[in-house]
Amino acid sequence: MDRPVVYLDNAATSWPKPPAVMEAMADCLLHYGANPGRGSHEMALRAGRVLLEARKALAELFHVSNPNDIILTMNTTHALNIAIQGLLRPGDHVVTTTVEHNSIRRPLEAMRRLRGVEVTYVRADEAGRVDMRALEEAIRPNTRLVAVTHSSNLLGTVLPVGEIGTIPRRRGVRLLVDAAQTAGVLDIDVQAMNIDLLAFPGHKGLMGPQGTGGLYIHPDLELEPLLYGGTGSRSESPEQPAARPDRYEAGTPNTVGVAGLAAGVRFVQEQTVRAIREKEDALTRRLMEGLRSVPGVRLLGPGPEEERTAIVSFLLDGYDPAELAFLLDQHFGIAVRAGFHCTPLAHECAGTLGTGAVRASPGYFNTEADIDALIDAVKELAAAAR
Ligand SMILES: Cc1ncc(COP(=O)(O)O)c(C=O)c1O
Repeated sequence: MDRPVVYLDNAATSWPKPPAVMEAMADCLLHYGANPGRGSHEMALRAGRVLLEARKALAELFHVSNPNDIILTMNTTHALNIAIQGLLRPGDHVVTTTVEHNSIRRPLEAMRRLRGVEVTYVRADEAGRVDMRALEEAIRPNTRLVAVTHSSNLLGTVLPVGEIGTIPRRRGVRLLVDAAQTAGVLDIDVQAMNIDLLAFPGHKGLMGPQGTGGLYIHPDLELEPLLYGGTGSRSESPEQPAARPDRYEAGTPNTVGVAGLAAGVRFVQEQTVRAIREKEDALTRRLMEGLRSVPGVRLLGPGPEEERTAIVSFLLDGYDPAELAFLLDQHFGIAVRAGFHCTPLAHECAGTLGTGAVRASPGYFNTEADIDALIDAVKELAAAAR
């Protein structure tokens, strides 16, 4: 590609990555690309130290006391499946919402089909807001889990996880939070928020490469592993080791990716979550205000004055969202995502299940010029449709 791309698809995966992430990955491949935990030679030990470093940085970020309670995974979906499939038993009931990503919905629906688990979806309003009373009223004597996203990946709505956390804790129910859109951009304190399970991507707000993610598991919570196999520990036993993280990390890990993730988390810590948030907020407000002024644009989700993440989904009169995204890409060099964003439930709330929408998601490395480029392109396309 010979022209610079305006990348506004950070909700799918962040891009570009900080140079330190690429350097850490190259360093791993070049100098210590051995198998961590599976040998006592210097290279293997160094690889093992990088995994520990990543766990420590993540534990600090999410206020986790023991880094071994952080399980490294391939992505958020992998983490959500370890949590959901590892916890639920026949006869259990789960409370969730209608703004969930398919990465929560599909494992829950699979548990309904395979294990007879019952699932209640608490209905969100058009902007993705969930009524706390309805959520509490949905809890039953056999409810084992409340599973919620921290922020809708279509609407940008932020669910009040701190407030939600008090409900399951009082009722002896576990709380699973999907932080796919918030890890690295909103403060997350698993202790203060009463979070038992936190699933997060390494490749979005934490600036790591694709193929990385993680799951925090509360120390008193025992899950059945999703995968069984070699861990490099207790090899004489036919049983999966009980100790974390090995219990939930069978098979050779993505050491190269995790080296990048550790560098990404360090970058986030150096910049601070607050500064990242403020920058993304400012870009989001600029984008929403700019698009709001274009005739024929319908913005989804809460307004710019409400708490929200950097996700701006919209429709433009006269265009199918897929066509609009195609034109933005081909004629203006702007990368956005059209369609249903793996969250038909949230589209149903917003009334866009019939059409889908275009989603623009700014990230830390975007500039005001990127935002203005999108606003100008949408203005031009709006004028052409009239
Ligand atoms: C809210 C939400 N949950 C889960 C996922 C799945 O994340 P991953 O691609 O890391 O598995 C996404 C990805 O976009 C998401 O936005």
